[in-house]
Amino acid sequence: MRHFLTTLDWSREELQSLLDSADRLRREPVNQRLAGKTLALLFLNPSLRTRSSFEIGAFHLGAHAVVLEPGKAAWGIEFEPGVVMDGDAEEHIAEVAGVLSRYCDAIGLRAFPLFKDWSVDRQDRVIKALAAHASVPVINMETIVHPCQELALMRAVQDHLGQPDGRKFVLTWTFHPRPLNTAVANSALLIATKFGMDVTMLIPEEAYRLDEQFMEAGERQAKRSGGSLKVSTNIEEAYSGADFVYAKSWGALPYYGRPEEEAAVRAPYRHFMVDGAKMALTNNARFSHCLPLRRNIKATDEVMDADYCVALDEAENRLHVQKALMLKLMDES
Ligand code: CP
Repeated sequence: MRHFLTTLDWSREELQSLLDSADRLRREPVNQRLAGKTLALLFLNPSLRTRSSFEIGAFHLGAHAVVLEPGKAAWGIEFEPGVVMDGDAEEHIAEVAGVLSRYCDAIGLRAFPLFKDWSVDRQDRVIKALAAHASVPVINMETIVHPCQELALMRAVQDHLGQPDGRKFVLTWTFHPRPLNTAVANSALLIATKFGMDVTMLIPEEAYRLDEQFMEAGERQAKRSGGSLKVSTNIEEAYSGADFVYAKSWGALPYYGRPEEEAAVRAPYRHFMVDGAKMALTNNARFSHCLPLRRNIKATDEVMDADYCVALDEAENRLHVQKALMLKLMDES
């Protein structure tokens, strides 16, 4: 049995096989290979794309997806071991995972970090607890990484650039009114370095470096794949010659859990918004973002409406890559 918790557990060849399968499913979207199978989707946080693409993808393959929102229309869950459960949670992940493993052929989980203590959240304990107690494959629908988004992004890169090796990939931090999860930025770094790209991470200052576990993994992967990873605070240098620009906002980890202090650090950097002038510095780059995106905060209308913006392609790819993933994890035939 295989989980899909992070792409760090999967080789480039295995991920490419999923991307190739996604391409085939794009051309022939409907079959019954998962007829009679079921998938539980646990959402601890909101979603538009992840929920709809998993539900629709399961339907396309003949499977049924059950969406559960613990703490809302389902019982709240305790994820820590050995806790005296006299708080809000009504049941423990041991029973939740055990029950759903009896009903379902896979379980997806979205559990954003709690924005209190990064030394705890960086361990990704919630999804690891689910995986430890489940006897069916577990799929990460975004925790401190977003591996399904990684697949969708790399499908878009390959569709638009062909072979990714040696192409310049810019991961640019952008402004947002509040500090956001680092998951998509971590993931963009992981997938681009795994696939041999020359990655430049553009940040306004050192406080916006990603967690060292991901910086180190990116360095390791780049070395193995023949790519590279560098960090820049120079907007012109970063955009210059870029083949693919990927934007994301995230909170500064040294200020994790202290949003008011972080807001003051972030305030001078609204100009990191992606605009036409910055894109003009590139090598006719494509632009993308995982969505949702606040227009004229993270990227201008001009960028979002340009032919080079492939954010909708990436969003569509969520459907294709997750179908490939469900077939890989749930189809025993
Ligand atoms: N990109 C993404 O995961 O979108 P949702 O938050 O809408 O699922």
